[in-house]
Amino acid sequence: MSDACKLAAGNWKMNGLRADLIEARALAESCAAMSCGVLLCPPATLISAMAEAVAGSKVMVGGQDCHANVSGAHTGDISAQMLADSGARYVILGHSERRADHAEQSADVAAKAQAAHSAGLVAIVCLGETEAERDAGQTLDVVLRQLRESLPEGAAAANTVIAYEPIWAIGTGRTPTLEQIAEVHDALRVNLPESAISLLYGGSVKPGNAAEIFAIANVDGALVGGASLKAADFGAIVAALDAA
Ligand code: PGA
Repeated sequence: MSDACKLAAGNWKMNGLRADLIEARALAESCAAMSCGVLLCPPATLISAMAEAVAGSKVMVGGQDCHANVSGAHTGDISAQMLADSGARYVILGHSERRADHAEQSADVAAKAQAAHSAGLVAIVCLGETEAERDAGQTLDVVLRQLRESLPEGAAAANTVIAYEPIWAIGTGRTPTLEQIAEVHDALRVNLPESAISLLYGGSVKPGNAAEIFAIANVDGALVGGASLKAADFGAIVAALDAA
């Protein structure tokens, strides 16, 4: 834990229907007394309804992607301004699933982050190495290059969060050792444009491993996929962060 703001961010990915808003409401109740930041990023179809469901609570709502432009002929895309207009305060950008499924490059991520900042959103910029890159000893090179190339001018603690997510740890139940997480987070911290930017770890964070991950010096929180879908699991992770 550093001096940066603590944030527990849940990424619902392509999961969730209106009936699942009950989980967001339950989370809002269980987190009422927490002082760390709590964020849920549901699919775009639920942003507005979730923002209403958790209005007045600790839980903030975010998107999972945005277009780099404000508006225009981009069928199927959603702008940062639209996310903000729906009640989002954050947007996840450059998640490895976006980089893999939609061939997003770091320059695209930087353009989207710029758009997010212009719309008043906090951009959660995701970085992470493949297993082959880790095995080849390239982890720090890869992650620091992604950091350099994925952040726009003006990225600062007020508008940017970084999530380190080793691709091989996402949805696999495997996590790096605590030393491996610490090594990457230490390297990221000294290369940030502003040292108070929050650094999240992501990849198979669960109630059972959250406390030991949050005890690492430069980990300020987590970006959580599978375990964010149920309020009981995510609430336990938030409680671990709050206690760290
Ligand atoms: P996971 O996903 O927690 O299910 O591993 C993390 C993420 O992709 O953000």
